[in-house]
Amino acid sequence: MTFQTVIEPFRIHSVEPIRLTTRAERFRAAEEVGWNLFGLHADDVLIDLLTDSGTGAMSRDQWAAVQRGDESYAGSPSYFRFRSAVQRLFPFKHIIPTHQGRAAEKILFSVVGGPGKTFINNTHFDTTRANVEFTGAAAIDCVCPEGRVPSLILPFKGNMDVELLERTVESVGPANVPLVMVTVTNNSGGGQPVSMANLKAVRAVTQKYKLPLFLDACRFAENAWFIHEREAGYGDKTVSDIVREMAALADGMTMSAKKDGLANIGGWLALNDDVVAEKCRNMLILTEGFPTYGGLAGRDLDAIAQGLSEVVEHDYLNYRIRSTAYLANALTKAGVPVMLPAGGHAVYIDARALLPHIPPLSYPGQALAVALYVEGGIRGCEIGTVMFGLHPDGTETPAAMDLVRLAIPRRTYTQSHIDYVVEVVTHVAKNASQLKGYEVAWQPSALRHFTARFRPIEA
Ligand code: F0G
Repeated sequence: MTFQTVIEPFRIHSVEPIRLTTRAERFRAAEEVGWNLFGLHADDVLIDLLTDSGTGAMSRDQWAAVQRGDESYAGSPSYFRFRSAVQRLFPFKHIIPTHQGRAAEKILFSVVGGPGKTFINNTHFDTTRANVEFTGAAAIDCVCPEGRVPSLILPFKGNMDVELLERTVESVGPANVPLVMVTVTNNSGGGQPVSMANLKAVRAVTQKYKLPLFLDACRFAENAWFIHEREAGYGDKTVSDIVREMAALADGMTMSAKKDGLANIGGWLALNDDVVAEKCRNMLILTEGFPTYGGLAGRDLDAIAQGLSEVVEHDYLNYRIRSTAYLANALTKAGVPVMLPAGGHAVYIDARALLPHIPPLSYPGQALAVALYVEGGIRGCEIGTVMFGLHPDGTETPAAMDLVRLAIPRRTYTQSHIDYVVEVVTHVAKNASQLKGYEVAWQPSALRHFTARFRPIEA
């Protein structure tokens, strides 16, 4: 007999209290921070779905590994355990630890970027794009067209549009493309996976033009699980083998260990090219630290090494992906428009569809995110016109979509927490027509979503 209920494959060993608050308290807290949820004190939040980055629970064995951490400045045994754990999955020649993903990006793009260069990705994550553009280079997204349609149910909506990739390489000239990148899973596109067939097709293009292929591998294990579940020929392979097959198609990677490293901090840059690696290490010494610790404590390196052996376990991944789908399916059943199919790490509510009476420039995503917090203490993240609408010249246009992302920290919340989230979102959705838009009361000139203050539009 196989039972249907997918249980959390762990027991709870140490708990963190959640401080229960009233609606009135939350209303006051939100008003005080200008209706920007980034300004809240986290202990005023009940269920924090702002991000899945660095917010997961470490295991007993990771905490034990923390005790084993060796803080030698150079040549720490923790580094060698970290390096072997990374190379077991990603057998690249050079493994360069960094304090998180964007530090790896900063170093890589400072070395290979610059004015006149173009980087192509299925979808650049915002820090990736910012680090590319900071060097004066251009960042172009070539995700497949289906990846931009929230309601289309397809298995691999994170795929690169391979023809568009090739046309783009031709039009900017291969000599101006230092590398092509594939983000697995495609975070900015809804956490959608990339198939092995697509990676192979991208590889064929990069080989034709002799371009290096890099993975932005933050959620590599979730991507590999989707391949295991959805792609013909992979059902009998282990996730570790699938990850190694993905790695074998690439020349390097950037990684945030705060996601599928199951750690609270950390990342790395890995690559095969000796000359580029040498330059990256020199930059690392300037910005992060000596090459055997790169901005991390030895104990962090050990926590990541252990996390990498846990994140590829099938029982963990089955629970992880099924619990994200559980939230998406329950919301869909309640009539709430969400991006489909569910991605790996988050559920994205289509605020523009839910709040058609709020025009994009009155920020329907912000209105929904604030309502989820005030009504139920749930903190999600607006991914829409607040985040992307303001341009460097000060003009403003609606973003392509107005979404609210509910990102699920790994191994942190139980099914009853998620049932509560479903109840709150359903309640807010039922009363959606009463929600009002917002206007900006104050904003900085760039990256306004972190610090802007808002005012409800009382019309
Ligand atoms: N690449 C992707 C695809 C990411 O999702 C992130 C972070 C990074 C790079 C940067 O890594 O945070 O360690 O510097 N994403 C987080 C999020 C912040 O909430 O989606 P980092």
